[in-house]
Order: sequence, then C-alpha cells, then structure tokens
Amino acid sequence: MKIDVVTVFPEYLAPLDLSLIGRARRRGLLDLTVHDLRRWTHDVHHSVDGAPAGGGAGMVMKPQPWGECLDELVFDAGEARPHLLVTSPAGRPFTQETAHELAAEPWLMFACGRYEGIDQRVVDYAAERMPVTEVSIGDYVLFGGEVAVLAITEAVTRLVPGVLGNAASLDDESHNAGLLEAPSYTRPAEWRGHEIPPVLLSGDHGKVERWRRDQALLRTATARPDLLERLDPGSLDKRDRLL
Ligand code: ADE
Repeated sequence: MKIDVVTVFPEYLAPLDLSLIGRARRRGLLDLTVHDLRRWTHDVHHSVDGAPAGGGAGMVMKPQPWGECLDELVFDAGEARPHLLVTSPAGRPFTQETAHELAAEPWLMFACGRYEGIDQRVVDYAAERMPVTEVSIGDYVLFGGEVAVLAITEAVTRLVPGVLGNAASLDDESHNAGLLEAPSYTRPAEWRGHEIPPVLLSGDHGKVERWRRDQALLRTATARPDLLERLDPGSLDKRDRLL
C-alpha cells in the first residue's frame, strides 16, 4: 500500500517510523512518504494560510500550495489516482468499517488541515478527479489533522496483510461484530488481592468462549449501549442474555 501524507508539520508524523508501522515500511509492505506542504510555497515566508473569506476568526489554508502539491504528487506522476482523505472535524466519522474499506485501497493520500481548515475548492477540485473523503476521528476539535492521520494510518495499516505479526488478534477484538472485546488478563493468577477469573484458568475452551461473550455483551451494554441497539439480531446466539 502506498501512503502520502501532506502536512505543515512533518515532524508530527515521526511516530510512523516506529513499531509495527516502521517495520512494515522497512519490509516494503508500506510505501509511506510525509511531505511538507511548504515545499509548494513561493514567498519568503512560505505562507500557507489566509484570512477567511466573509470574515471571522482564524485562518484558512490557501488553495495554491495544495494545487501544486496535487499536480506534482498525482496529476504529473502518472495515470493512477489516490483516495484522498482530508482530515476535518466536519468530516465523515472514521470507524472500524471505514478502516476495512481503506485497507483495500492501493494508494491513500492524506491532506492534513490546520487552522480553520483547507479552502473548500481544493476538496471540490480534487473530488472531480479522484475519490475524496473528508474524515473525522471524533466529535472534538484538534489543532490539526496530524493526530487524526496517525490514528487512521494505524487503524488501516494493521488490517493490511502482513503488517500485524499475529493476524489472529484481528479476529475477536473490539468493534468486530459490533461488540466491545472482553477484558484480558495474564499471570500471575493473583495480583494485589485481585484474581484472574477462574474460568480463564480452567482449560475449558467452551466455557472460556462463553465467558468472553458474556463479558463482551456486559461491557458493551455498560460502556456503549448505542452499539447494542445497532446490533444485528441475527448475530446473537440463543445463550446470549441481553441485560
Ligand atoms: N482536525 C481537527 N479536529 C479533527 C478531528 N476531530 N478529526 C479529524 N481531523 C481533525
């Protein structure tokens, strides 16, 4: 998978050199490049923003550097087109489902918004020429899209075959089948007066599975009742007790 990230703070993306993403890059599973948007500015101050049309607080990212960036990285580079993801609190909510959709794409390009966002014409122009999604990682406002790119890149690339060491850990994790994952424990069996639930040490695989399923339902009912309401009734088995 090819990933390009365009930002005015390339240093913010340094964690993409670390851990499993760093390893996937070194192994050639991910071809990831971080670009400094200021490369496509021509004034001495390398300015990327301007006052909002119509007035108001904050600054808006100017279209010119973004246009030249798209020319160089996309239009002049060949026939292929990326799926452009524009990070914004006004975007479509990013979910595990979105992560699965994006993991199947050969080329993702992130445009990190800063300040009050990017001039909307950049998004509209790009959308006439390639798939574009404005995407939000949650109902809160960050200073810019860089942290959103870190979160989305991690959620997406761990679904790319070969990136995660043990693909089995993808199977029953939180947000698969619409339920949160059951709590996890490791030895010692007793720690500071707290015990591992005995069923997990029983060696009875069927009982362990049943316990995990009950805990997943309980946890979801407690922390995310909205998820239980959206659960496909067909995904419930007859021993599930909905509380
Ligand atoms: N930029 C600022 N806030 C954001 C959010 N919640 N999601 C994505 N990008 C953002």
